Amino acid sequence: MSERLSTGIHGLDKMTGGGFIRGDTALITGPPGTGKTTFGIQFLLEGIAKGENGVLVTVEELPEKIEDDALNFGWDLRKLEAEGRLKIYQLHSEMLQSGGAPIMQCLEVVNSIKAGRVVIDPISLYSMNVHDPNDLRREIYAFVNYMKENRLTLLLTHEVPDIITRISKISDYGLEFIVDCIIMLQYVEIESEIRRSVSVLKMRGSDHDIAIRRYRISGKGIEIESPFQGYEGIMSGTARKTGAEGFMEAFRR
Ligand SMILES: Nc1ncnc2c1ncn2[C@@H]1O[C@H](COP(=O)(O)OP(=O)(O)O)[C@@H](O)[C@H]1O
Ligand SMILES: [Mg+2]
Repeated sequence: MSERLSTGIHGLDKMTGGGFIRGDTALITGPPGTGKTTFGIQFLLEGIAKGENGVLVTVEELPEKIEDDALNFGWDLRKLEAEGRLKIYQLHSEMLQSGGAPIMQCLEVVNSIKAGRVVIDPISLYSMNVHDPNDLRREIYAFVNYMKENRLTLLLTHEVPDIITRISKISDYGLEFIVDCIIMLQYVEIESEIRRSVSVLKMRGSDHDIAIRRYRISGKGIEIESPFQGYEGIMSGTARKTGAEGFMEAFRR
C-alpha cells in the first residue's frame, strides 16, 4: 500500500482517495486568483504540522510578499523559517535567463533542511523563461524523478492565462504526462455569478472523486464544498441547468 499524505485542504483528501501519495507529484492548474499559491502554502503547513519540513520555490514573486499575504490567513511563515522548518527560495529572471538548470539548484535548499514537501509556484512562469521545450521536459522530469526516488512529495502550480478556461491541453511540453495527479481550479459562470470549482482530473494508481465541486477561500484558506448538482457544462466555464432541472423550473414558473 502506498503511504497517503494529507493535502492540508479541508475536503480534498476525500476527493483524492485519501490524500496525495508520498513521492508523487501533483499539478494544480488554474487562472490567476483561484488560490494556487494559497493551496501550496496550506500543503506545506500541513506537512510542517506533521513534522515534515517544507520548501516553497517561488518563481518571480518576492518572498516578503508571500509572507505578508499569508498573514491574512493567520499563517506566520517568518516564524517557521526562523525555526528552520520552512524555506522560501526565489527563482528570479536573471537566474532563469542565465541558463543551466535552476530547478535542479533548488535541491541544495531542499536538502539543507531535509524537506519532505516541496512546492514550485508557478512552474508555468518558469517554463516561459526556458525556451527549448525538450530541455524543459528533461529538467522537470529529472526533478520529479529525484523527488520520487527520495520519497519527497512535490506540488507544482500552473497558471493558465484565460479566466474562463476551455482546456484542451495543459502545456506544450507534456507536463500533464509527467505528473501523477492533476487538480483543476476554475471560475464558472452560473446565473450571472462567478463561482469557484475544483475537480481531480487524474490520480495515478488511485481511485478519486469524479464530481466537480465548489470550493471557497475564507480566512482559514481553501475549503472544498458540495458538488454542483443539476448543472452541466461546468468545465466549459459557463454552466447550464440540466434538462430535468430546467424543465422543473419552467414547470414551477
Ligand atoms: N484572508 C482572506 N480571506 C478570504 N479570501 C482571501 C483572503 N486572502 C486572499 N483571499 C483570496 O485568495 C485569492 C488569491 O489566492 P492566491 O493563492 O494568491 O491565487 P493564485 O496563486 O491562484 O493567483 C484572492 O483572489 C482572494 O479572493
Ligand atoms: Mg499565485
